[in-house]
Amino acid sequence: MLTNQGFNLWADNYDQTVQISEENNLYPFAGYKKILNTIFNEVMQKENSNVLDIGFGTGVLTSKLYENGHQIDGLDFSSKMISIAQSKMPNANLFKWDISKGLPSEILENKYDSIISTYTLHHLTDEEKASFITNLIPLLKKEGKIFIGDISFETRVELDKCRQESIKYWDDDEFYFVYDEISSLLKYQCEFHPISHCGGVFIISE
Ligand SMILES: C[S@@+](CC[C@H](N)C(=O)[O-])C[C@H]1O[C@@H](n2cnc3c(N)ncnc32)[C@H](O)[C@@H]1O
Repeated sequence: MLTNQGFNLWADNYDQTVQISEENNLYPFAGYKKILNTIFNEVMQKENSNVLDIGFGTGVLTSKLYENGHQIDGLDFSSKMISIAQSKMPNANLFKWDISKGLPSEILENKYDSIISTYTLHHLTDEEKASFITNLIPLLKKEGKIFIGDISFETRVELDKCRQESIKYWDDDEFYFVYDEISSLLKYQCEFHPISHCGGVFIISE
């Protein structure tokens, strides 16, 4: 499991690592661009909206939303990722925060049209994910939605198949989403849209 220092070290060549895995249709980032594009298109349904990004990284997705007029708040625990993302989005409110501690007080009174998170929540166990997502629900505006793009599978059988195929680089310290397991822990509407053999988008609303 990478610490914030691990992500600081990865930050400068993060985009390149993703690109290589993406272009070769390999775990973990197969479908990355399509996943981010799916969320981009969903958020763009509303103009000038309020968006919270959990684990924005180098800002690949949020900086596109920022350029299109959306107001961005974000949480990430890597100071290096924050400095790369802040340089692309000078007016975004980016907070250094470890999500394993829940949510920071600075955003608790805010309301968002969209809460997005890509390739970050797999650092939480399923119970932690369910509790974290439950704490995000009060931050949604009426009709607001949570969009999660991540390494994910419809069933554990599919996860195990991918694990066998990718055993050389599989990370056993991470907790990937399995739709039929996580949806049973959540008390909210939860749709899953598979995009690649190891990734997809969840849409969660009250
Ligand atoms: C794999 S990157 C994904 C970045 C970006 N969302 C994307 O899709 O390219 C994961 C990001 O989550 C952040 N992160 C991981 N664990 C975290 C935690 N416990 N609290 C806050 N941020 C975390 C990392 O610093 C990193 O920027």
